[in-house]
Amino acid sequence: MDYHRELIAILDFGSQYTQLIARKVRELGVYCEIYPYNQDINTIKKLKTKGIILSGGPSSVTEDNAPIMDRELLELDIPILGICYGLQLITMLCKGEISKSLKREYGKAHIFIDEKDPLLEGLSNGDIVWMSHQDRIFRLPEGFKSLAHSDNSPFAAIRSTERNIYGVQFHPEVHHTPKGKTLLNNFLYKICRCEGLFSPKSFVETAIADIKERTGDGNVICALSGGVDSSVVATLIHRAIGDRLHCVFVNNGVLRKNEVEEVIEAFQDKLHINLRYINGEDRFLNALKKVKDPEKKRKIIGRLFIEIFEEEAHKVGDVQFLAQGTLYPDVIESVSSKGPSATIKSHHNVGGLPKRMRLKLIEPLRELFKDEVRQVGRELGIPENIINRQPFPGPGLAIRIIGEVTKDRLDILREADSIVREEIEKNKKFKNIWQSFAILIPVKTVGVMGDERTYANVIAIRVVESEDAMTADWTRLPYEILDKLSRRIINEVHGVNRVVYDISSKPPSTIEWE
Ligand code: XMP
Repeated sequence: MDYHRELIAILDFGSQYTQLIARKVRELGVYCEIYPYNQDINTIKKLKTKGIILSGGPSSVTEDNAPIMDRELLELDIPILGICYGLQLITMLCKGEISKSLKREYGKAHIFIDEKDPLLEGLSNGDIVWMSHQDRIFRLPEGFKSLAHSDNSPFAAIRSTERNIYGVQFHPEVHHTPKGKTLLNNFLYKICRCEGLFSPKSFVETAIADIKERTGDGNVICALSGGVDSSVVATLIHRAIGDRLHCVFVNNGVLRKNEVEEVIEAFQDKLHINLRYINGEDRFLNALKKVKDPEKKRKIIGRLFIEIFEEEAHKVGDVQFLAQGTLYPDVIESVSSKGPSATIKSHHNVGGLPKRMRLKLIEPLRELFKDEVRQVGRELGIPENIINRQPFPGPGLAIRIIGEVTKDRLDILREADSIVREEIEKNKKFKNIWQSFAILIPVKTVGVMGDERTYANVIAIRVVESEDAMTADWTRLPYEILDKLSRRIINEVHGVNRVVYDISSKPPSTIEWE
């Protein structure tokens, strides 16, 4: 069943939570897309959307340049839910009154239900909700009524008495509103009358049918890195077109310990994907000789990768399509580049390829968020060690060795890094860690081992928590773990006599050291 048959449109007024609304709606089984608040009304009409959600936003509807959607949206007879700024906008557009307040209501509040309504089914008096707003409704528009009040606001939830137009002052999408999901569920199923067609399973079915149709008899080439996105892309396309998918996996000499073996085992041996493995170790390391500058390292690795990938594509011959692991946040970023939501940083390792190679793009994940990609990966039977893999930069260990990259330094870093990975991965408590790795600082310091003086390198350990890599905080690892990591690295890795822990957050530092 094609899940596109039912759609919820989310209009983005610049809230930091807009993507969270989308993720929650999809978790509840309904496919949704985010549009800029000023999206042309005809486009919205063509979507045949089952419902519209107006996000929150940092502006005040009382300001001159406040973002406003087309008023006609309220006349379309499509159910609407306005959240925070969305509620204030509905109020203003329907000629109610908003009072500008100097004091922000921020944090937990309790709601009390004034009137029974399908939107609030399952919610009770005293339930906690999360508020974050400055302006408030002063007078309801004609034809609207209040459904609930909170400690501070007489209009915590409102609805039109004639139409399915709703507004809530609080944020149902955040986890600080424990019954928020119930409310969204009510909106989707009781008010918009959705069926719930979106799931990892229906995504896989629809994506496979799409890929088959799009590619016809054509061949597809795909760069495999072993990361989650490219792994899911490859597996999905392989399911659709079998050996007409040609995956290229390049060993750029700066991969982690056992990485080559793990990728070959998973994709060639277990998933039986048509894999071309190219050992480019010497080529990359030669090109990196004497290079110290991080950006130069990045460029060299990126350029060589494209060169090798093109060579392989020529060898395959008759290729028409290039597969890429573009995700939904990148798509929203590019379609609404002037839109209000904060953008997410992303690195496209094969970015320059399609233009030069005149290939058509296949981007089967362009509708998905990262957590959905993982669920789809599980649905496809991809091994857990790949699904749970932490992000690993395209330039690999080259940007984790400060200064010149040499074979000896790589050997040291690989050993130290594998100890960090092993200790962190085996401990279930650290599941929410975003990245954990080692950095080689090739500065020699003095130590003593047994009766011998040593003069060896420093290893830094970096462990961070993050939502999207835009900001990150260092993980407060227990002393016992730090102690174990330090002991193991110094005892087991030849060439290291000192271990330090990086306690900088991002910003002002970055996650990687180079
Ligand atoms: P920074 O160091 O900027 O990293 O805080 C943010 C995230 O991006 C990853 N990263 C890269 N990924 N090519 C990549 O594919 C790169 O050149 C690159 N530089 C940083 C980093 O691992 C982190 O997840």
